[in-house]
Amino acid sequence: MSEIYPVPPAFAARAHVDAAAYDRLYRQSVEDGEGFWRGQAAFLEWMRPFTRVSDTNFDPADLRIRWFADGTLNASVNCVDRHLPAKADKPAILWEGDTPGENRMVTWGELADKVNRLANVLKGLGVGKGDVVAVYLPVIPEVMVAMMACVRIGAVHTVVFSGFSSESLANRIEDSQAKVLITADEGHRGGRVVPLKRNADVAVAGQPSIRHVVVVRRSGAPVPVTPGRDLWYDEATVAADPWCEPVEVGAEDPLFILYTSGSTGKPKGLVHTTGGYLVHVGTSWRIIFDWHEGDLFWCTADVGWVTAHSYKIYGPLLNGATSVMFEGVPSWPDSSRWWSIIEKHGVNIFYTAPTALRSLMREGEGPVRKHDLSSLRVLGSVGEPINPEAWRWYHSVIGGGRCPIVDNYWQTETGAVLLVPIPGAIPNKPGMAAQPYFGIRPEVVDADGNTLEGAAEGNMCFRGSWPGQARTILHDHERFIRTYFAPYPGRFFTGDGVKRDADGYYRISGRVDDVINVSGHRLGTVELESAISSHPAVAEAAVVGYPHEVKGQGVFAYVTLKEEVPESEELRREIIEWVRARIGPIASPDIVQWAPALPKNRAGKILRRILTKVAANQFDNFGDTSTVADPAVVDDIVRRRQTHLAQEKA
Ligand code: WTA
Repeated sequence: MSEIYPVPPAFAARAHVDAAAYDRLYRQSVEDGEGFWRGQAAFLEWMRPFTRVSDTNFDPADLRIRWFADGTLNASVNCVDRHLPAKADKPAILWEGDTPGENRMVTWGELADKVNRLANVLKGLGVGKGDVVAVYLPVIPEVMVAMMACVRIGAVHTVVFSGFSSESLANRIEDSQAKVLITADEGHRGGRVVPLKRNADVAVAGQPSIRHVVVVRRSGAPVPVTPGRDLWYDEATVAADPWCEPVEVGAEDPLFILYTSGSTGKPKGLVHTTGGYLVHVGTSWRIIFDWHEGDLFWCTADVGWVTAHSYKIYGPLLNGATSVMFEGVPSWPDSSRWWSIIEKHGVNIFYTAPTALRSLMREGEGPVRKHDLSSLRVLGSVGEPINPEAWRWYHSVIGGGRCPIVDNYWQTETGAVLLVPIPGAIPNKPGMAAQPYFGIRPEVVDADGNTLEGAAEGNMCFRGSWPGQARTILHDHERFIRTYFAPYPGRFFTGDGVKRDADGYYRISGRVDDVINVSGHRLGTVELESAISSHPAVAEAAVVGYPHEVKGQGVFAYVTLKEEVPESEELRREIIEWVRARIGPIASPDIVQWAPALPKNRAGKILRRILTKVAANQFDNFGDTSTVADPAVVDDIVRRRQTHLAQEKA
């Protein structure tokens, strides 16, 4: 019998969607998708109403995804202006800095003022409709201001995670041809300083598309300034006009570009457009977290990821919700930091990732028990499969057994939620992202493209379209089609594996492509391999994921050194450092194993299946090894892994 947690009746009674409403609305949303989304679109303020809801075609030869295409609107009007004057003096953001005691409150009125001023600054720097602005900021209110200022003038933001290296930032600037970069002097994380301006200077040096760098004073530390190119955010915005006329954009005009790793070395810039994205994100955020006026929401995701774009920035702003924003990490100064913030502000809806829960779980219940978490009503989880053990801890220790867990499954590509147990409607099963959101048609597909019925295991696909989905990969529409729409015609392929039980609940089993999910961060194995192979001592590298207790998956690198180079501990550390510097600390290999040769087939293709097994300490059942060109190579990597394990034990 599977473990089921029913919806608490009192919760269902006041929820936006209860079980009966879910059944009715879901049926309507798939039988008459046009009608359903037309109704949802009334949530936004349009400048010119749309006449046609959707125009889609999934033939890979002529892929078309268009929603509300002849409507026009402005995102910042919907996110900010609409809540004024009613909420002018109410908090939009309650910000907690990395250092305890450091905090700020930004009201809706102040947010509007900042957005308008920065929009005017950007305009003055020559940024116009369709231009790209790169944002490389810590989790501070200015990141929200920067995103809103861009969309106010029809510019397209591309937010780059502040933990990425200058090289990663440079790649994204180069691909997006950003005209302006908005950054800060320094960031603060876990008591450490992140030299953002220094990284930005290195990144921008070789990028002629960047004409100006706007620098937010976060720490006040002295940083180099390039006259003519750099300007201080505070000085420029004080001098700017406090009103900026919002620019009317088409529903299918781009809203933002967000880069994510794929199965080649080059990150892909997913392009999201305005109307459909805002409709899907704004309406789903309210429903899946069951937010009601007055509720306080906190999403812990970094602004560099899609989770934050949709459900930390756009979702709450579109709904006029007050959010907590926290710059730091859960473990600093100690592992009760998050719980102290929940207690301090009385957070009602808390949304985080399984990896953080697993690491906090290791600290035991002590740090949690020090705080009163009774304000919590709903808990969210996203980014990777949540293992039942972490789920139960979240439910009982953090949620006191009374809060439904909203394990929502989606991707950078999908823009908003696809699978989710809507909290007032769907009973929870630990580790299962449960049921489809409205208008979403999941399919479990086998390797030959057959759609499986009932309890089944296969590839996670979705039929049809939904308004929030990405429209293309910047400069590479061909790759967009090839990756998502060509594998199983008529369906969008996620790259994930899935299992559906007899009750129709979905459990995502993880990536089935060359992507590994490390602490909820997507890393392309090819991207990691090219970073490692660019080290002068390295001849070749192969990277696979392996089960990691806290991170979900860890990075396991098999490295072949050049002929004359000796293996050494020092070199191992150097290679790890090399990857950190090239991609960022999140990409650090957890294990580097020397491999005088890699197992390949006769065509020279690396046999990752074997490498993945060895990394997971499975030393037999390699399947058909007749294709291995040199079986001694396999014996060697197995022996080395076993020796390492024996040494670890000793
Ligand atoms: C994984 C984050 C299981 C999945 C919103 C997906 C999940 C990738 C879940 C997207 C979940 C995300 N359960 N797996 N609830 N949520 N994933 O683009 O492998 O950062 O393909 O989007 O994370 O990661 P991304």
